[in-house]
Amino acid sequence: MEYVVNAQNLSVRYGNDEPIITDVTMSIKPHDFVFITGKSGSGKSTLIKTLYGEIEPSGGSLSVCGVGLKNIPTSNLNLLRRYLGIVFQDYKLINEWNVEQNVMLPLVIGGFSRGVCVEQARKLLKHVKLLHKADKYPLELSGGEQQRVAMARALAHNPLMIVADEPTGNLDNYSSEVIWNLLKGAKEHLGTTIVVVTHNIPSALGIYYRHFFLENGVLHEVP
Ligand SMILES: Nc1ncnc2c1ncn2[C@@H]1O[C@H](COP(=O)(O)OP(=O)(O)O)[C@@H](O)[C@H]1O
Ligand SMILES: [Mg+2]
Repeated sequence: MEYVVNAQNLSVRYGNDEPIITDVTMSIKPHDFVFITGKSGSGKSTLIKTLYGEIEPSGGSLSVCGVGLKNIPTSNLNLLRRYLGIVFQDYKLINEWNVEQNVMLPLVIGGFSRGVCVEQARKLLKHVKLLHKADKYPLELSGGEQQRVAMARALAHNPLMIVADEPTGNLDNYSSEVIWNLLKGAKEHLGTTIVVVTHNIPSALGIYYRHFFLENGVLHEVP
């Protein structure tokens, strides 16, 4: 696959409102680590939601993981979601399930045996330093811990790409560091493509990354 994300003159609007995204052209290659920044209200979350198929493009073209996102049938949307790991600012864990069950979710959907699901979930929980909380429930954890669980879940099925919307927005330094290290490790060791919206690009990430800035509906690559 040449491009994991290929957007050409993409525009996105809510209903009949003026477009929020007016002209986005961006090509993301496998293994790219991409940051997207921009002022509050500039449309970063809208762009991210478009990448995982929650909002349909209104103009231009967009393909993600080889799946075309205009007029996408539900079957293709399900396929796309299997290629992606998604991380939200508000975690979106299932509060009735314990930590280990939350991390196993994408593996259960993927049809893996129970043994494989448990083994992989524990491996990921170890990476986010939360193996000792495997049988706790989300509401028994701090926000930073919940986000680390969400990050473990997003990586559990070894996705082609992670999309994350301000994953460290509300977090303490320790949890932020665990999350940046995990994303960096996924890129380096698994070749995962990473697209992250953030207000603070970590200063000591120690890897090559690309930076796009969203302004007035247009995305500019910062050289
Ligand atoms: N569901 C929605 N319906 C209508 N307008 C929306 C919706 N969600 C967001 N918007 C508008 O889109 C613009 C960009 O929002 P958003 O993508 O959340 O920006 P950012 O993530 O950069 O802060 C804002 O003006 C917001 O009010
Ligand atoms: Mg946002």
